[in-house]
Amino acid sequence: MKVLVVGNGGREHAIAWKLKESNLVKELYIARGNAGSWEIANRVDVSPTDVKSLAQFALKEGIDFTVVGPEAPLVEGIVDEFESKGLKVFGPSKEAARLEGSKAFAKNFMEKYDVPTAQYSVFDSFEKAKRFVKDVGAPLVVKADGLAAGKGAVVCYSEDQAIDTLDRFMNRGALGGAGSRVVIEEFLEGEEASYIVMVNGESYVPLPTSQDHKRLLEGDKGPNTGGMGAYSPTPVIDKSLEERIKKEVIERTIKGLSKEGIFFRGFLYAGLMITSEGPKVLEFNVRLGDPEAQPLLMRIKGDFLESMLEFHEGKAVEIEEDNRWTLCVVLASRGYPTNPEKGKVIRGLDRVKDMQDVVIFHAGTDTRDGQVITAGGRVLNVCAYGKTLREAKDRAYGAVSEISFEGMQYRKDIGDKAFKFLSSR
Ligand code: AMP
Ligand code: GLY
Repeated sequence: MKVLVVGNGGREHAIAWKLKESNLVKELYIARGNAGSWEIANRVDVSPTDVKSLAQFALKEGIDFTVVGPEAPLVEGIVDEFESKGLKVFGPSKEAARLEGSKAFAKNFMEKYDVPTAQYSVFDSFEKAKRFVKDVGAPLVVKADGLAAGKGAVVCYSEDQAIDTLDRFMNRGALGGAGSRVVIEEFLEGEEASYIVMVNGESYVPLPTSQDHKRLLEGDKGPNTGGMGAYSPTPVIDKSLEERIKKEVIERTIKGLSKEGIFFRGFLYAGLMITSEGPKVLEFNVRLGDPEAQPLLMRIKGDFLESMLEFHEGKAVEIEEDNRWTLCVVLASRGYPTNPEKGKVIRGLDRVKDMQDVVIFHAGTDTRDGQVITAGGRVLNVCAYGKTLREAKDRAYGAVSEISFEGMQYRKDIGDKAFKFLSSR
């Protein structure tokens, strides 16, 4: 069959890599992809958010199944567009994608259906938001209502920082329209983890657990980014906590969606803070995480395309997990996340290509004169397997040391947060 993956980044390269293993795939396409994913899939030169042109392409080419990577086309309504033309696609409708597309919608939904989350208030007026900050004091978290590519949440440790953030979002249009409405949230302490499931109406199937590293710098310092590295599984989520997450977060969310008359089919990602009171939802995403998808998909055994197709049809499926660990280090450009440099030649890819138990996914890359160059903030995802997390980490960083480009930056402590849970492993 013909399969289309929509998206440009490392997550979509990983999705394409995993689907390509399936014997069911005759032709694989990626729109628009990058220098890495073009090596395994046919390049479709259409922007992921140009949903009408993508649907036309899929019709013309006879695409049998489409998997959507990023949130922007989902929030734009790609699934509605494809389904209205009879095309089979995995992802939530525009209406269901509001769980990610509007923080205010998500928070109100969680409150209504008793899904544990931080206390919050929603503001359209800068003056009212400012007064609220003065009343409750720091620390607190300011979040833009709309999509902001990982840059819309700011943990504020002082009132001045919170008011400055509100001013940037609400008055100075730092995030375009996405910041004109904000959510101000109670600051939660704890360990973060990502819990991702596939949902089809009222049924769901869990995928391997993972943990992201959102901050730019080691020791969780610096600004929030889209994610600087991840590993799977995360020992933060043990069996009993997983049961609690299923009951209190996933099942309440799915029931709530159904009560609201919103049909959800696709990946549902709960970004969690594991607090002393239990798991609380920081955010919902309606897609796989990036970079969590990379180590997560590496741990799925068997034919994932077949599982997705059966699940899409409403059958119950089980996902078998590889019992090895996987770890992913993001190599980013100088200037990321605010103003990344582009166009730098990447060296060393040949040296890591055939390394055992190492997988390289491209994120922001392109080609120029036969060379691979940087083309975005997050450039490469260097991933590895290991019998232990330590082994996966050492192997991934071994590969990282072979790669270079001007201004390359990365965190050296990916995975370290897990070691304190793992003294015996
Ligand atoms: P979000 O986009 O809502 O996931 O927020 C991005 C990041 O900001 C999260 O991964 C956390 O590291 C941090 N964050 C968000 N909300 C809170 C909160 N209520 N308390 C503490 N940290 C938070
Ligand atoms: N890595 C976090 C996200 O994809 O939203």
